[in-house]
Amino acid sequence: MKPAVLVARNVFPEAVARLREHFEVTTNEADTLWPQPELIRQLQGKAGLFITGSEKIDGVLLDACPNLRAVCSMAVGYNNVDVPACTAHGVVVSNAPDVLTETTADFGFALMMAAARRVTESEHFLRRGEWTKWSFDMFAGSDVHGATMGVLGMGRIGQAIARRGALGFGMKVIYHNRSRLNEADEATIGARYVDKATLLKEADHLVIVVPYSAASHHLIGAAELAMMKPTATLTNIARGGVVDDAALAEALRHHVIASAGLDVFEGEPSVNPALLTVPNIVLTPHIASSSLPTRRAMASLAVDNLMAALGVGPNAGKPPTALNPEVLSK
Ligand code: GLV
Repeated sequence: MKPAVLVARNVFPEAVARLREHFEVTTNEADTLWPQPELIRQLQGKAGLFITGSEKIDGVLLDACPNLRAVCSMAVGYNNVDVPACTAHGVVVSNAPDVLTETTADFGFALMMAAARRVTESEHFLRRGEWTKWSFDMFAGSDVHGATMGVLGMGRIGQAIARRGALGFGMKVIYHNRSRLNEADEATIGARYVDKATLLKEADHLVIVVPYSAASHHLIGAAELAMMKPTATLTNIARGGVVDDAALAEALRHHVIASAGLDVFEGEPSVNPALLTVPNIVLTPHIASSSLPTRRAMASLAVDNLMAALGVGPNAGKPPTALNPEVLSK
């Protein structure tokens, strides 16, 4: 009998078709985010689980699903998965790095530009029918070319955004990260490592790309915003919770900084109502990786991992992007 797997959310039919070649597949046609008790119910008897960045996988779920052997996510961020608990339960976990790096960097850059040049704010003005004449300073924003980009979190996506800024727009790049890049990578990007305070004080455009964890919770709050230039922009494409959304709304309202671009929110898909009423912000619903080819590649990588983790296909036993491959070598 084929092993049983659960696909927790709707996904490309070709991804499900590949899984059906090897597994008994249960899908979630309604595409609702199942509350954990329902996810646990659906998982009974399943060996594998295909997830997104939304499903919470923790010790409670793992204790209740003793047949589970693999949890494979099509997201790169995995703060929704307790990886040590999975390891302790002998469950392989994988995420989907690399395939979304350039697409996500494109979007981060787009949000930063839109915030700097006030694209959303001016479009709303136009749509309201308020555009009656040209004026010398109408929606005058700040330049991106030649400005200083501050990157908080210099992983793969941070580096891809920094390259765009330095090589394409002549930006000066400063960054802060847990660890420094090697000198060769710093030189290619022309990036300078600085402490967090310098980053906040010197950046014209701050881009946040750090993974969410207890250590990065509210890394940017009222005190940090107060250190930034009043002309600065802030872009968050990392995770909700890295920025204190209430403090950001307050800072935007009082022009502590000039504008912001957010693709991620605390408690999403709910959005702090205060953010919806400030004009100087660009808001998008967590879509930075969402180009069709990239979303297909992310789903396909999760399928590769699930097949490999459950011992079928060309990578059997070696999931390409496992986060705890030691589970399989035990
Ligand atoms: C998106 O946020 C992802 O983690 O893939």
